[in-house]
Amino acid sequence: MSKITAAITGVAGYVPEYVLTNKELETMVETNDEWITSRTGIKERRILKGEGKGTSHIAVPAVLELLKKTNTKPEEVDLLICATTTPDMVFPATANLITAEVGAVNAFGYDLQAACSGFLYALVTGSKFIESGQYKKVIVVGADKMSSIIDYTDRATCIIFGDGGGAVMLEPNTEGYGILDSVLKSDGTGAQYLHMKAGGSRKPATIETVQAREHYAYQEGQAVFKFAVKGMADVSAEVMERNHLTGDDVAWLVPHQANKRIIEATANRMGLSNEKVMLNIHKYGNTTSGTIPLCLWEYESQLKKGDNLVLAAFGGGFTWGAIYLKWAYDPK
Ligand SMILES: CC(C)(COP(=O)(O)OP(=O)(O)OC[C@H]1O[C@@H](n2cnc3c(N)ncnc32)[C@H](O)[C@@H]1OP(=O)(O)O)[C@@H](O)C(=O)NCCC(=O)NCCS
Repeated sequence: MSKITAAITGVAGYVPEYVLTNKELETMVETNDEWITSRTGIKERRILKGEGKGTSHIAVPAVLELLKKTNTKPEEVDLLICATTTPDMVFPATANLITAEVGAVNAFGYDLQAACSGFLYALVTGSKFIESGQYKKVIVVGADKMSSIIDYTDRATCIIFGDGGGAVMLEPNTEGYGILDSVLKSDGTGAQYLHMKAGGSRKPATIETVQAREHYAYQEGQAVFKFAVKGMADVSAEVMERNHLTGDDVAWLVPHQANKRIIEATANRMGLSNEKVMLNIHKYGNTTSGTIPLCLWEYESQLKKGDNLVLAAFGGGFTWGAIYLKWAYDPK
C-alpha cells in the first residue's frame, strides 16, 4: 500500500471589517506612519469590534467558507484543531465553540497554544491523525483576536498586531502530495521576552494586576527580533537541506508575518527572490496564529499542483518551525 500523506485540499480565511491604519495609531500613541512602515512593513491591520465577540467569531466564517469550498458536510468532519493564543474563554476550548457553531457534530476538537507558531504546530499535529489512517477530514484553524490582549498605550507593541484567521482542510493523499516534512522547535528560556504577566494560574486576575496593565502582551521587541531572524532562517534552511531543495526548487515561502525584515532575512538565507514570498503584513500586521492560513488563502489562486512550499514561523515561547509540503491542487 502506498504511504498516506496529509494534503491540504482547501483553504479559507476571514478578517474583520474594521481597518486600523497607521494614521489612526498616530492619534493613539507617539508614532508615525514612516517609522511603522520602515521598521515593520505594516500599513494597517484589522480589528474585531463588537461586545462579546471572540476568536471563534473570526474562525467560524473561515470554517464555513472552507466547508463550502471543499463540498464538505459539517457532520463529515472528524477533528478540528484550533491554534490560538486568544481563546474565547480559558475553557472550554475555542475548537468546541467552533464545531458547535458550524454543526460539526461528529468532530472532536481541541485548542493548541504555541503563540505565533501555533498554526504550524497544529498543521503537523493534524497531519499525523491523517497519516495514521484513523481520520479522513481534519480541519486546522489558526485564528487570533490579538486586540483583546494588546496595550494600546504601548507603542512598540500595539503597532504590530491585528485580528484575523484562516482554516485548511487536511485529507489523505497517496500520490505524494501534502505535508512531507517538518522541523519544530521550542525553548522555554525565551518566555522572559514575550509573555503575559497575569491571568494565568501563577498570577490570577486581581484589581492590582488589571491596574498594573499585566493582562496585555509584554514584549521586548529587540530581543525577540534577534531570535526570530536566526530561528526562522535556521529551520527553513534545515528543512530545505534535508529534502535536498535549493532556492530554485521552492515555489513559495509562506512566512509568519511578524516583521517584513524578519521575512526578508529568511528568504535571503533560502536563496529566494521576493516574488516567491507570500506577503500580506502590510494589510493585516501580525495576526499570530492567523498569518500563515491568511497567506495561503490570499495566494491560493496562484498555487499550482506540485508546487513546493516552505511554511515557516517564529513566536512566543519561544516556538519556531518550518514545514515542507507539496501543494495538492490547481486553482479551481
Ligand atoms: C518591535 C519592533 C518593531 C521594534 O523595532 P526596533 O527597530 O527593534 O526598535 P527598538 O525597540 O530598538 O526601538 C528603537 C527606537 O524606536 C522607538 N520606538 C519604538 N516603537 C516606536 C513606534 N511605534 N514609533 C516610533 N518610535 C518607536 C523606541 O522607543 C526607540 O527609541 P530610543 O532609541 O529613543 O530608545 C521590532 O523589535 C520587532 O519587530 N521585533 C520582533 C517582534 C516580533 O516579531 N514579535 C512577534 C513574535 S512572533
